[in-house]
Amino acid sequence: HGGPGWDGDRLQFTPVPPNRDDKITVPAGYESAVVVRWGDPVLPGAPAFDFERQTAAAQAQQFGYNCDFVAMLPLDKDRALLWVNHEYTDEALMFRGYTTGGAATAEQIKIAMAAHGGAVVEIERVGRSGRWKLVTTGKRRYNRRITTGTKMVFTGPAAGHELLRTAADPTGRVVHGTLNNCAGGTTPWGTILTGEENFNQYFVGGNGVPEAAKPALARYGISTTTAIPSDSRRWDRVEERFDLAKHPNEANRFGYIVEIDPYDPTFVPRKHTALGRFKHEGATTSLTKDGRVAAYMGDDERFDYIYKFVSADRYKPGSRQHNSALLDKGTLYVAKLTGDSPKAEIDGSGKLPSDGEFDGSGEWIPLVSGDKSHVPGMTAAEVLIHTRLAADKVGATKMDRPEDVERNPKTGSIYVALTNNSNRTAAQVDEANPRPTNRHGHVLEINEYRNDAGATKFTWSVPLVCGDPATDPTSYFAGFDKSKVSPISCPDNLAFDGDGNLWIATDGNALGSADGLFAMPVKGPERGRVRQFLTVPFAAETCGPLISEDQKTVFVAVQHPGEVTGATPENPASRWPDGDQPRPSVVSVWHTRGKDIGA
Ligand code: FEO
Ligand code: CA
Ligand code: CA
Ligand code: CA
Repeated sequence: HGGPGWDGDRLQFTPVPPNRDDKITVPAGYESAVVVRWGDPVLPGAPAFDFERQTAAAQAQQFGYNCDFVAMLPLDKDRALLWVNHEYTDEALMFRGYTTGGAATAEQIKIAMAAHGGAVVEIERVGRSGRWKLVTTGKRRYNRRITTGTKMVFTGPAAGHELLRTAADPTGRVVHGTLNNCAGGTTPWGTILTGEENFNQYFVGGNGVPEAAKPALARYGISTTTAIPSDSRRWDRVEERFDLAKHPNEANRFGYIVEIDPYDPTFVPRKHTALGRFKHEGATTSLTKDGRVAAYMGDDERFDYIYKFVSADRYKPGSRQHNSALLDKGTLYVAKLTGDSPKAEIDGSGKLPSDGEFDGSGEWIPLVSGDKSHVPGMTAAEVLIHTRLAADKVGATKMDRPEDVERNPKTGSIYVALTNNSNRTAAQVDEANPRPTNRHGHVLEINEYRNDAGATKFTWSVPLVCGDPATDPTSYFAGFDKSKVSPISCPDNLAFDGDGNLWIATDGNALGSADGLFAMPVKGPERGRVRQFLTVPFAAETCGPLISEDQKTVFVAVQHPGEVTGATPENPASRWPDGDQPRPSVVSVWHTRGKDIGA
């Protein structure tokens, strides 16, 4: 490769310096504005947001809390649908006087349930700019809220399995709601995939399940010794199904990739068991060389794995009914990575091995194909429901919290955000996770054999080891001059601009300044030149991000502004965006003279 676009040519903006300001900071020449915020109307007729008198009925018609993944689906040149995940709620910031789930009112619990899930909203361009705003009048026929009460179905080989059956659903095929939807993706046929991540935190009673069920529950982070974890939201007080002592299989019904058709407000969302069950960060699709659908997925937990699903059948453009079954049948793989440098050279000092790179080869180990298991002692359905236990058995590589996995549309390379892992010891480092006490995380690049998403072999390298380049010798920016890059910590969500530059959003900046959005060329002489494009308000996390097809807008979801220990509505840590109570919001950012994002 070479020439314009491959070496970061478009990235001319002046980087935003680290700060702790309670606002969105963008480079000179850019502006930002809120598109939609917590409580804004989604359904026509939704009541206006009233922080002091919120109700569950109102919340179910309004934009939910803690926006995360953002997808844009065109209607026409100046109108689009925005899909947004609502990952979780922060009751201490939402309600005055909130103390614990045990002391919460039933209405507060119901509000929190209604603030989870996702939203489809219609948005429109402002004038001819890159600024977008929420449509608040008219029919808005696609607008929809998905909540913990929305009816969904299971598809794929594990649908109907006894591990999915409950008193309320003896068929094991119908479930209400989706939980902790973190990141996601869009499919070639125009639907949304949304990942159920930390679903474990919604259940109590794990000590009361049958002994045989305990090891699997524990592997997914549900306590099997404590009746009620101290930080529980106590949803069991409103819906008994969240008490595993009474309904031990209910937790098996969360942790999936869920498909939603934003163009069909009556669509019954599908939980795709063929894509496995774990703490799904998200799922991003790409076509294989022979036209099948691959979905790349991370399991966001310390020492957990990177997965790939490849459909059995091919994608047929224009054939929506055929395509809608592609995620029901295929092969689920887990990644094993092998370094190519001697173990003695991966010593945790941050020093590169003598071949000059943290790199190596890898293989996708099949776990299940259709209804055929490749894991000894487990059926296909068991592999798909207890996927972590299956991957443990086959020697997959334990990673530093795999978050977003995205394929570069220009080059075909795949990038994995490994957000951090402070628990990795010096004895546990390997070439793919080369830093002990990895507080700042790193980014992995995967090149599939013959650049085919259907391949079972690949090579990989680590182009970015995050940290403060000025003071941290373990930080690495693909060999680029460290005096010319922005400090970066805790990569989470990834995106690409039209030239194939990697954009990285962060969550939990361990350097002490605000989270933000960064751009990094991945080809040419500027590979590794990380530049900070924006910072988010105080104590917020940067989600989305999404660069519009026309390159004129970047959407960012500002999650949990003001979320610090001890913050309350009387003593908020952030007053963004309105100078009042903090409200998680999606913003659009644009160049005031209409240049492409990054210029
Ligand atoms: Fe919800 Fe893995 O970030
Ligand atoms: Ca090496
Ligand atoms: Ca995330
Ligand atoms: Ca995260």
